[in-house]
Parts: sequence; structure tokens; C-alpha cells
Amino acid sequence: RILFCYLLSEETREALKTPTFDVWDWEPNEMLSCLEFLFHELGLVDEFHINPITLKRWLLAVQEHYRKNPFHNFRHCFCVTQMLYGMIHLCSLQEKLTRMDLTILLVAAVCHDLDHPGFNNTYQINARTELALRYNDISPLENHHAAVACKLLAQPHTNIFASLEPDVTQKLRRGMVSLILATDMARHGEILKGFNEKTESFDFNNPEHTGILKMVLIKCCDISNEVRPMSVAQPWLDCLLEEYFMQGDREKREGLPVAPFMDREKVTKPGAQIGFIKHMLLPMFEAVMKIFPQIEPVMVQPLRDAYDYYMSEQQVSRLTT
Ligand SMILES: *[C@@H]1O[C@H](CO)[C@@H](O)[C@H](O)[C@H]1NC(C)=O
Ligand SMILES: [Zn+2]
Repeated sequence: RILFCYLLSEETREALKTPTFDVWDWEPNEMLSCLEFLFHELGLVDEFHINPITLKRWLLAVQEHYRKNPFHNFRHCFCVTQMLYGMIHLCSLQEKLTRMDLTILLVAAVCHDLDHPGFNNTYQINARTELALRYNDISPLENHHAAVACKLLAQPHTNIFASLEPDVTQKLRRGMVSLILATDMARHGEILKGFNEKTESFDFNNPEHTGILKMVLIKCCDISNEVRPMSVAQPWLDCLLEEYFMQGDREKREGLPVAPFMDREKVTKPGAQIGFIKHMLLPMFEAVMKIFPQIEPVMVQPLRDAYDYYMSEQQVSRLTT
């Protein structure tokens, strides 16, 4: 216990539980301390006999394996994990899911974009990159994130599961890989459909049900920036567009197809968000709301507000042009 001397104030610890947490306010070292804290606070360090020093080394290695992309960087990893922690509290997941499931969720969130190169799957496939070749065009990025995650866990000095029996480790690893692979947006429709078929009679004791719930939870957290207060969400949109535009520019240079939403000549911020909120975010969060109605005021309403905001912005820009 003496070893884990993160310097988080009581106020920070409480704030971490809410989607209003200001994720821009922290240096990388502070984000590492927060992540470390989550593993201790959720009881995962005790349950899985994680060596606290190995936990620190693993988190440091994770941070080093995120690239300095405008969007897909270590702070995004932190955001996704912090939102997951928020949902764990808001939805009392500690009472509904096993410690094993919570660990799978948390480790997957931390690792889900490891070594992201800043150019999406379609680019990888069209440009026939090393990654697309290695994974036969099948979720090349997500396969890579998961493989890097497994590599870190295969090295003794960063193996947080070193003291577990092989069958437990294998369960954790399989669960983590399947959640990271579920973050490929190409599978969004399929996963949401599978989830919707189970919400009517959801059963927390049925591993098929909890399996798809975990996928939907990590997906929600992955694309949850618009759930956050406007002042936190807005800079993320700038980061995302910057990364998209870099891809669009490169695709133009290389003579590859460019999506309109990655073309800096064509994109407006409201245009980028209105469809995404309406067709991706709201249907998924409203599906989760069927099982966890408590997310409505805290997570769904901010999405509706963001939608209204971008709609009115679009009106203004139409009137002035
Ligand atoms: C990835 O980029 C391509 C353009 O190359 C675009 O058509 C596609 O929609 C993008 N995928 C995602 C999930 O953003
Ligand atoms: Zn992500």
C-alpha cells in the first residue's frame, strides 16, 4: 500500500467518476496516476494480485506505445478509460458484472488504440500498407492494437497478470482482444443490432448478454466526446478533424479515394457532428438507456443538447452565407 502513493486529491478522485471531468487539465504523468488509481480503487489490483510496480511499468509502456497523433493519442486512451470508470459508477456495474469483466473492460479501454498510426482502416486497405497486408484487410488497426496489447502482457516486466493461472490469463486475454476488435466502427451496425435483440429481456447471468454489453460499453466510451461538456468536447472535434484532414491530404497526394468528411475543402464542424450524433451516438446510447435508465440525464441529454447546438450553428452559417 505504501508503494501506491499517487497524489490525487479527494476532489479529483470524485471528479473522475463523472463525465464532466476535465480531461484537458492533466499532464501525462497525472493521467498515469489517475489510471493507476482506477485499478486500485476498483479492487482489481487485489483481486488479480497485480504487482503495483508492474502496474506502473505497464501503464508507462502503454503510454509510450501511443503515438503523438492529433486525436488517437494517449489522452484519448485516458478519456475512454475515464468515461468507462464514470459508467461503472453511474450504472453500478461493480454489482452487476464480475471483477473479471471489469478488468477486461478496463484493460481493453486502456489498450484499445495502441500504436494507432493516425490513418484509418480504409486508408490502410486502399494504400496496401504493411498492417493491411498482415491482417488481410480484416480490421487491420484493431488487430494491431490488440496484438501490441498482448505483446506488452507477454513481457515479464509489464505483465500485470503474471501471478495468475494460465486459464485465467487466457480468459482475460481473449476478453480483451474481443473488446478491442469490437471498436472497429465497420462492425457498429452488427454489434448494435445484436445488443438491441437482447435489451428486452437482458440477463446479467447470461455470458452472451454480458459479452455484447461489454462491447457496447467500450464502443460508447470510445466515441463519447460529445457526452462531455461543450468546453471539453469542442477541442476534441478540432483534433479529430485535424487527423481526418491529414488523411484526406495524403489520400489526395497518393491518388486514393477521399471521403467528403476528410476533405478540408468540404467539412464544416456542424456538418461533421449532426449525422454522427443522430445516426451513431443517440441510437447506441438510447439502447444502453433501456438497461441503465440512469444514463439519460447524465449522458444522453448532453448528446441531445450537442445535437441542438450543432443544428443551430448550421442554421446560423446558412443564414450568413
Ligand atoms: C476511413 O477513411 C475513409 C476514406 O479513406 C472513409 O471513407 C471512411 O468512412 C473512414 N472510416 C471511418 C470509420 O471513419
Ligand atoms: Zn479510440
